[in-house]
Amino acid sequence: MSRAMCPGSFDPPTNGHVDVIKRCLSIFDQVVVAIVANPSKSALFDSIERTAMLEELFKDESSRLEIHAFSGLLVDFAQEKKVDVIVKGLRAVSDFEYELQMAQMNESLAGINTLFLPTNPEYGYLSSSLVKEVARMGGSVDGLVPPMVAAALKERYA
Ligand code: PNS
Repeated sequence: MSRAMCPGSFDPPTNGHVDVIKRCLSIFDQVVVAIVANPSKSALFDSIERTAMLEELFKDESSRLEIHAFSGLLVDFAQEKKVDVIVKGLRAVSDFEYELQMAQMNESLAGINTLFLPTNPEYGYLSSSLVKEVARMGGSVDGLVPPMVAAALKERYA
C-alpha cells in the first residue's frame, strides 16, 4: 500500500493544489494532506478553516485521503503518518531552488524522499498569496480557486 504526503500552507487551497492532490490520488493508494498549522506568513484562514475547506473539496475521496493540520517538523509528521514519500507541486524554475533545499534537508533529517510533480500549466502562475491579493482588492478569483473557497475569500474580505 503506497502512501504519499502532500504538505502545504493551503491558505487558501487553490485549483493548483486541488490538481496536485488529485494527481497524487491517481498515483498512490493513500494520500495524506498535511496542512502546516502555523505558516511562516500570517494566515488568512486558521488551520481549522483550511482543514474544513479541504475536507469539503475532497469529501468523495475520504476513503483514500486523510487531511490533518500539523505543527513542528514535516519529517516528524511524515514518519508519524507512515508515508513513503512527500510530494510537492512545482510551478516554475523559481520554485525549484527552495523546494530542492527543503527536499534535501528532509532527506538528510529523516531519509524521506520528495517527488516533484510539475503543476498543470493552466495553474502555473497561481499562488495562494496572489489569489489573496486579488480577492482583497476586489478582483475575481473565479477559475483560480474552487467556488467554495472564492465564497470564503469574499466573505473574509467583505
Ligand atoms: O505551501 P508551502 O508554504 O510551500 O508549504 C511549505 C511547507 C509547509 C511544506 C514547509 O514550510 C514545511 O515543511 N513546514 C514545516 C516545518 C519544517 O519541517 N521545516 C523544515 C523544512 S526543510
